[in-house]
Amino acid sequence: MSKSALNRLGKKHFRMTNVPLVSFLVYPVAKNWIAGQSISEAIKYSKLANARGFSVILNYLGEEVDTAKEVQEALTEYEHLLDLLQPNRIVGCISAKLTQLGLRMDKDYCTKNLVEMVSHASRLGRFVWIDMESSKFADDTIRIYEKAFSRSKNIGICIQSYLRRSEHDIEKLLRIDGKIRLVKGAYNEPTTIAYKSRKEIDKNYAKLMVRLFKDSKSLFSVATHDDRLVYEAVRLSKEHAKNFEFAFLKGIRDNLKLRLLNKGYRVTEYVPYGQNWLPYSVRRLREKPSNFLLLGRSLLGK
Ligand code: FDA
Repeated sequence: MSKSALNRLGKKHFRMTNVPLVSFLVYPVAKNWIAGQSISEAIKYSKLANARGFSVILNYLGEEVDTAKEVQEALTEYEHLLDLLQPNRIVGCISAKLTQLGLRMDKDYCTKNLVEMVSHASRLGRFVWIDMESSKFADDTIRIYEKAFSRSKNIGICIQSYLRRSEHDIEKLLRIDGKIRLVKGAYNEPTTIAYKSRKEIDKNYAKLMVRLFKDSKSLFSVATHDDRLVYEAVRLSKEHAKNFEFAFLKGIRDNLKLRLLNKGYRVTEYVPYGQNWLPYSVRRLREKPSNFLLLGRSLLGK
């Protein structure tokens, strides 16, 4: 399968049954990055991650939904997931996408759904992260975050260093003591609004991270697998005593995660699960050329 074909797939919302052949081909690699397709597999994996010393950020896969039925299904799943954390003694929280909660349908509807989800989490003493999606949703995502955060503080938002606007967004979020998860960014954005070269994206990440270490009064998350940035965060943490954690995706840089854990840092794993695993997995495939080699090997049965 060509890289451009995968790019096209990554943009769409797919269920396994829509694209059985592609799913069949990609799943052997994708399963490294997801806990499985069911809630019980997510709980089972979370227990293992906790036993190894990591907390978890559970994500029920799904994005860009267009029907109230799908939104309701996601909300019910997240409530059920939150309800299962305590009885299973899971150290962790959840992370959701606003387009999964109805952002493409109606902003007020999405805000109401998020507020309900966050209230439920709050009653159970749990935290909720909001994933950041493609840039067309950034304004609304930040606005809705601000609204939800004004009601309840157990919520954080992801900010992407590849977007030129992110410095301004972080500025704004720091003024309300918002909780920020800093990532590089996973979508294909135009040059007009995004840094495109690795050098520029990393430079902006480093700059925004310094800002967080210097000025954040709240929890923040250094969410990158990049050694250089991780070790820069380690250095900064020695200069600034902050409430921060390292966050990694499931199945990526396991040795680095362990090294940080062994040095006494808080490390959390983002653990996606569910049937809509294809768009997420395509984004992961595209991030590292050698993943295509893995895909090729798995297709050849090696
Ligand atoms: P970079 O891509 O430069 O990778 C650094 C090194 O990590 C690579 O050299 C390689 O060794 C390893 N690596 C990275 N990706 C890999 C892969 N797929 N397979 C194998 N090795 C890989 N994005 C977004 O737009 N919105 C969001 O809400 C989130 N949420 C999120 C949460 C958490 C906890 C993390 C860690 C990441 C995200 N992301 C995200 C994804 C993020 O934007 C980005 O796409 C990936 O983390 C890859 O970027 P790195 O920072 O790892 O750097």
